[in-house]
Amino acid sequence: MKTIYLIGFMGSGKTTVGKALHELLQLPFVDTDQWIEEITGDSIPNIFQLSGEEAFRLLELQAIQELSKAIIATGGGIVEKEDNIEMMKQKGIIIYLKTSLKEISQRLQNDNSRPLWQTSISQREQLYQKRCHLYEKYADKTISTDEKTSYQIAQEIVQRI
Ligand code: S3P
Repeated sequence: MKTIYLIGFMGSGKTTVGKALHELLQLPFVDTDQWIEEITGDSIPNIFQLSGEEAFRLLELQAIQELSKAIIATGGGIVEKEDNIEMMKQKGIIIYLKTSLKEISQRLQNDNSRPLWQTSISQREQLYQKRCHLYEKYADKTISTDEKTSYQIAQEIVQRI
């Protein structure tokens, strides 16, 4: 069985779609952020604040190295490290959940659990543009998610893999 990696910007629904895929395909599901919180015993905001973004990126790399044979919801910054991409390409298929910034902004309007979202509107836009370019570049398949339920998106993924 190949590993299915879900990539996309913060708030694009990787975790909820991953859980819907888990129901449809009866395959294990892992969320890299939750995995990191479990192995460190600490929250993502605390890791960013106490150890910095680079330390968090190394934990993400460790997650990608250790996890496989599952549906894996990655963090939005997984595309920041080329090593992650190489490993994901070797082990499985990369699915990009493409969500508009408008939709993401609505979903995350009261969110304070994501350090890289706690910035100005123009910084968010810049990060979104930069990341979208990377997601498009590395994805094997792209699925638009606006105005679809997580179950519809999961079904579309099953049809296309
Ligand atoms: C991040 C996205 C977050 C989490 C961390 C950093 C990013 O995950 O990994 O806050 O760099 O975009 P989600 O994409 O699940 O929000």
